Parts: sequence; structure tokens; C-alpha cells
Amino acid sequence: MKSARAVAHTNIALVKYWGKRDASPADLNLPAVGSLSLTLDRLRSETTVAPAEQDSFHLNQEPASGEVAAKVLRHLDRVWQAAGHAGARPACEVRSHNYLPTAAGLASSASGFAALTLAAAAAFDYDPGRPALSALARRGSGSAARSLWGGFVRLERGVLPDGSDCRAYPLQPQSFWDVRLLIVHTEKGPKAIGSTAGMQRSRDTSPYYGPWVDTSEADLAAAEAALAARDLPVLGDILEHSCFKMHACMMASRPPIVYWRGATLDVIHAVWRLRAEGLRGYVTSDAGPHVKVLCAQDQADELAVRLRAVSGVHAVDVVGPGPDPTVEVSA
Ligand code: DP6
Repeated sequence: MKSARAVAHTNIALVKYWGKRDASPADLNLPAVGSLSLTLDRLRSETTVAPAEQDSFHLNQEPASGEVAAKVLRHLDRVWQAAGHAGARPACEVRSHNYLPTAAGLASSASGFAALTLAAAAAFDYDPGRPALSALARRGSGSAARSLWGGFVRLERGVLPDGSDCRAYPLQPQSFWDVRLLIVHTEKGPKAIGSTAGMQRSRDTSPYYGPWVDTSEADLAAAEAALAARDLPVLGDILEHSCFKMHACMMASRPPIVYWRGATLDVIHAVWRLRAEGLRGYVTSDAGPHVKVLCAQDQADELAVRLRAVSGVHAVDVVGPGPDPTVEVSA
């Protein structure tokens, strides 16, 4: 094997993924719904996979162990198996660094598993093309499948039992639309539950899970059209609808899954108030208390200033559309 380094940028879903397909092996990690995302500038994972005497994983310069390291090493096994090489996988040293905002609480699994997939495939001399690598990244984490491209990306739900058609593809490149995403960091409490377990609970117990899944394709089609037309108010309406529908589905789970804190709602209401004043921001939020706001480039700074003033807000990062991942191989 060789030594390879990959850089992949994180992404935020504008039309959300929440739920796994019924009766599929957990290892395939097949989503119940498709999703549509924006890859972000600056916020990224850089990962190196190199030959070694024994397996190891370092995250942000620290040796990692337990389930965190086990997930990474299991993913190396998947890439090695997909590559179809004979014999056991060679031992690897994996070093990953996340460049995500410090106050974060932002999931690193999207950029992390995308970078790991790309670095491992290159190290194992495996080049099936980005679509197949996207399907492989999905098995590490669903949202990672979308970080295989910059700009605006769609992850297809797919129908095949082996998941080979459940992969992302690029909709529009980084240069297509110079929008901004504000990441509004609010107070952090203990996280309700991880995404994977939360999705399972919603599927098993939420009465809104069925309608959530059934209405997702229509949101995707409408979002794709609004994106192609660069229509911010229409896209904004769809992304808010997708976000609130997902959180309603989570909250109606048993026991309830509530990721929001008081400040989360204060920010949401502030965004709506400012919108009525002409600062057009649209909110989305994931499995955590932070709020992300999509807006036009020329209103981003003013919106950021106004949202920093909301009580309970620690920081506001302003980011634009991000690039494709990159991979470098050394002998
Ligand atoms: C709320 O991709 O973290 O951010 O596939 O189980 O690893 P696993 O889940 P993950 O879930 C992301 C959920 C979300 C919405 C989204 O990014 O689409």
C-alpha cells in the first residue's frame, strides 16, 4: 500500500436525512430518504492513511481508542474489501484533523468519513470513481456520502438492496451561487442522543415518521428546482419546512428527542423577525442546539452582527460554498 492524504469539507443538509431504510443490514447504512446539502468552505477534515506496524488512529494529534477508533478501523476494512485485494488488510496509521469551529458541537462525521474513504481508497490503490466512493463513505456515516463533492449535492435514496445506487451526486458546483451559511452557536447542554440511535427511535416510535419519509421526495424535487433557479425565498421555505418536519418527527418519538435549547428558539425567532425587516435568512438545525441560517452574501455580515446580539449566542461563523475534496498520494 501507499501513503495518502485527503481533505474533505463538511456539509449541511438543506433537505434533511433522518431515518434508515427498513430491513437493511446495519453495515450498509441505507437512508430511508434522500437529502440535499451545501458543502462548506473552510470547515474540513484532513486525513492521512499510511502503512504501519500496527493499526492506530490519532484524532487532532491525540491517540484515540474505544468505539471512535473501532469505527475508523472498521471503515478501513470496508474499503479494503471493496478494493477486492487478496489477503488481509495491511496495518495502517490513520491521522485525522478536524478544522471545525472551536465552540463547535458540529458533527465531524460527514467530512471525517469522506476524507477517510478517499485517503484509504488512494492508499489501497482503489479508484472506482467518486460515485462508488460516495456509496462507500455512506457506510461510515450517511452525511459523509455528500462530502465527496463541493457546492450543492444530492444523496439519492436508492432502491437496490446492496445500496450501490444509494450515493450522492453533484447538483451545482461551488461557483454556482455565492450564498452564505451562518453557523449560530448557542448554549450546549448534554446531547439528547446520537443520530444513528435517534433515527432508530423515531422509526420505531414516532407517529410522524411515516409522513416524514413519504413527503421527502417532493421536498427534494422542489428544492432542486429552487436551487437551479437560484431562488432564495423558495429554497428557504423548503429548507425550513424540511427542518421543522424532521424535528417534529424527532420530538414525537418516545421518549422524545429534543435537541433544541431555549437559545435555539430565541435565534429562530430572531431570524424570522429580521426577515420581516428585510434581512432574508432561513433557518435549519441538525442533531444539536445550534442554528444554521442560509442567506445572500450581501446580507450575511449584517445578519451575523444582529444574531451575535441574541442572548445565549456564543459565536456566529459565516461560511460560503466549499470545494471538492482533494487527494494526494506519496509512494
Ligand atoms: C440531522 O449522517 O450523522 O444531520 O448515517 O447514522 O452516521 P449516520 O447519521 P448522520 O446523520 C445526519 C443527520 C442530520 C441531517 C443530515 O445531515 O441530513
